[in-house]
Amino acid sequence: MKFFVDTADVSEIRSLAGMGLLDGVTTNPSLIAKSGRRMSEVIAEICDIVPGPVSAEVTATDLEGMLKEGRYLRGIAPNVAVKVPLTEAGLSACRALAAEGTMVNVTLCFSAVQAILAGKAGATFVSPFVGRLDDIGQEGMQLIRDIVQIYRHYPSIRTEVLVASIRNPVHLLESAKLGAHVATLPPAVLKQLFKHPLTDRGLEAFLADWAKTGQSIL
Ligand code: E4P
Repeated sequence: MKFFVDTADVSEIRSLAGMGLLDGVTTNPSLIAKSGRRMSEVIAEICDIVPGPVSAEVTATDLEGMLKEGRYLRGIAPNVAVKVPLTEAGLSACRALAAEGTMVNVTLCFSAVQAILAGKAGATFVSPFVGRLDDIGQEGMQLIRDIVQIYRHYPSIRTEVLVASIRNPVHLLESAKLGAHVATLPPAVLKQLFKHPLTDRGLEAFLADWAKTGQSIL
């Protein structure tokens, strides 16, 4: 399973990349706004740090505008994946950009039938948002289960399921059990994956016993 990080915070990305854990990065207009920086600069910097796909989202809502923005964004670096919303215009833009050899991430996917459309449009990634479905009382993970199952029936669909809007380690665990290709994790959730109270307690006990021996390994 590939791990992407969902942030436009360059210092966070640099430190996570140093741990060898990152296969890619996702951003969105809200995350770029939060960074307080110019989008083209932030995306270029992230693409230098992480060689894997870096999603940069268009903000135009019409086909022509999305194509213009998408072509500009992919020009920033070869590892840019242009992110388009799951709308009629977004899927037309996806088809056109994919035909030009650009990686495309179709975002804001909230139903399995939408994911079928993204697959047919030649998306590199489809991003179903699990947390936002949970927020409105629908089971986000059921959407992942459905998409993974449907895509498995059709090997001609090469689109990878990129689980987005992850809020906790259980979302990641369930996504991995279902065989989703990618999870994009907020930095805080990625760091939570390391943690288990029994690991901390066990280490403390081992070190206390070790100290009693008076030995040192080196
Ligand atoms: C993914 O590409 C999106 O940027 C992201 O996962 C959205 O997450 P949120 O619902 O926590 O904003």
